[in-house]
Amino acid sequence: MHQIFKMSTKNIISGFSKLNKHAKLELVGSKFENAEQVIEELKSYWHDDPAKQKLFDEFSENTISNFYFPYGIAPSFVINGKSYLVPMVIEESSVVAAASNGAKFWSNKSGFRAEVISTTKVGQVHFIWKGEVEKLQALFPFLRQEMLKGTKHHTESMEKRGGGILDIELVDMTDEIENYFQLKATFETVDAMGANFINSCLEDFAEILKEHFRVNEYYDGEERNCRVIMAILSNYTPDCLVKTEVECSVECLRKAGDIDDPEDFAWKFEKAVQIAKVDPHRAATHNKGIFNGIDSVALATGNDFRAIEAGGHTYAARDGRYRSLTDIDISGGKFKYSLTVPLALGTVGGLTALHPLAKFSLRLLENPSAKELMMIAASVGLANNFGAIKSLVTKGIQMGHMKMHLLNILNSFDLNEREKNLAVAHFANDKVSYTSVKKFVDSLRKEAKIENY
Ligand code: MEV
Repeated sequence: MHQIFKMSTKNIISGFSKLNKHAKLELVGSKFENAEQVIEELKSYWHDDPAKQKLFDEFSENTISNFYFPYGIAPSFVINGKSYLVPMVIEESSVVAAASNGAKFWSNKSGFRAEVISTTKVGQVHFIWKGEVEKLQALFPFLRQEMLKGTKHHTESMEKRGGGILDIELVDMTDEIENYFQLKATFETVDAMGANFINSCLEDFAEILKEHFRVNEYYDGEERNCRVIMAILSNYTPDCLVKTEVECSVECLRKAGDIDDPEDFAWKFEKAVQIAKVDPHRAATHNKGIFNGIDSVALATGNDFRAIEAGGHTYAARDGRYRSLTDIDISGGKFKYSLTVPLALGTVGGLTALHPLAKFSLRLLENPSAKELMMIAASVGLANNFGAIKSLVTKGIQMGHMKMHLLNILNSFDLNEREKNLAVAHFANDKVSYTSVKKFVDSLRKEAKIENY
């Protein structure tokens, strides 16, 4: 359907959030000349079951429709000897196929060997202290105890699950910004991603800090010396880290597909990883390929992929230069390839407990712990990256990519099933591009015209 947009400068609307859903739809529809059609199209993506639709409406504000993404499965992932059917939510053609191919190839070796190195998360209270530094430092052990006591109402249930606040440090940042200090707290949130828990604790720490200077006669006047700027978790979680690796003999790589000379392939592969270690332009794309896999598992399981990306990219730049997140070791005839990445994932709470398909994904993965999910997501990321580098150093990325993209191109021409099948058969042995597909479709239609004449 074509949406005919009415040009208007009146897009500044107040009170939109107060309108009911139908009024919101009507307002959005009124921007188009074919308003009724536009509204019907938006409504066609609503869930048939009003109770289920209500759930989606309540995830976010101003919801008027649902935006569908494909939910796919990468079978055959063997990680630490256990096999998984991994759910992936992603729109990009060939990502699920690449993960599945990688999983299959490595499952015939010994699979992925993964380990969680650490699971600590970080949060900060940023504040300005204009008083004497020594006084703040001397007072800090007392304040720390107050903060631990004052957040018991948040920490008790987390402690029962084996988590809680691990530590609170006072960090002097006055070298960077005049009078700037931090409370840097570390947390263990077990199977929860823990954002709400961490932020609630941090806001209480900030209150306790402010209150102390406000009510204590003894520190009269110093409340004005202490100004809290903000309290928030950090998405940089270098100590919530997972490593996964694969290994096989160089000779075995011959079976990975499109590899005639495994020695030469391993050499080129190693060079590709070295390039991504030293060149930030290449590193960004290399790591993007890793996050194709990780993000799609994060989305399928109701996790916050933006948080994971932020943490991963910051980790990639931890020594001051943005680098590849994977490491390669080719020696003694062995090919060893690994990925080390911070992944703050959860398997309880938040969207994982609300979104019906996120819940299903976790059931499909046999209800993993957060640690197990970290190992699964990292392994999918490594499988995707292995597939990408393999294609790049052999036949190039476009052939496979465009083959997978063929149906998307065909769909843009509104073909019937017969025409689609003919096109798929034709392009099984021909190079796919928008132009080549258009040429084929035009010729099909010309033939059809002649036949009907
Ligand atoms: C495309 O989504 C991902 C790749 O560009 C990754 C890479 O270049 O390594 C193929």
